Amino acid sequence: MVINYADKELTQKYQLMAQTIIPRPIGWVVTQNKDGVVNIAPFSYFMGLSSNPPTMIVSVGHKSDGSQKDTLKNLRETKKCTICMVDEALLEKMHLSSKELEHHKSEADEFNIQTKQFNLDFPPLIEGTPSAFFCELYQEIELKDSKTIPLVVEIKEQYIADNIITDKEKITLEYEPVARVGKSYALLGKKITPPKI
Ligand SMILES: Cc1cc2nc3c(=O)[nH]c(=O)nc-3n(C[C@H](O)[C@H](O)[C@H](O)COP(=O)(O)O)c2cc1C
Repeated sequence: MVINYADKELTQKYQLMAQTIIPRPIGWVVTQNKDGVVNIAPFSYFMGLSSNPPTMIVSVGHKSDGSQKDTLKNLRETKKCTICMVDEALLEKMHLSSKELEHHKSEADEFNIQTKQFNLDFPPLIEGTPSAFFCELYQEIELKDSKTIPLVVEIKEQYIADNIITDKEKITLEYEPVARVGKSYALLGKKITPPKI
């Protein structure tokens, strides 16, 4: 079977891609508006982009009424975000935080998500996150004829929870991230060590 994307509706294209390009990591993005209201939303069009400069990409769509998502609005205003990794213990709150709220409302209050002001120069991180990246907006990318806006963010600092560090000297990390697989979530399966080349 070959599917011609030109004939497909947006939701069908999303569903096909989301079931095939798997697993997708989840970036749980914390931003703040000018008044300091904390906004939290998950993004799975999210990926590491480059180590030099240390960057990640988050692709932001739009709200159901076509207006810009709060994450985009806040990032454009403040140029800062804190991107938290998600493990199984945080899965439910992460999922709930994807609900569309009015701009002045905070998912932290609405869904009782505990946050901690770890670095005063960046939005707070989510309590319990295994790791979080403190980032600055680096570049917006224009997708021709699209309302989706991929944002490149530069990692300035990384928080790592003590309990995922297996070797402090080498900074070796081990944790079980949650990934997006279609409309569901999954944990990573077994690890495979490749032969030396
Ligand atoms: C697991 C998961 C992944 C998501 N990934 C994206 C994404 O990559 N891009 C996007 O625009 N919305 C994504 N969403 C939807 C947003 O989280 C949702 O629109 C949210 O309300 C945006 O919040 P904001 O307006 O506070 O920025 C995702 C939702 C879930 C549950």
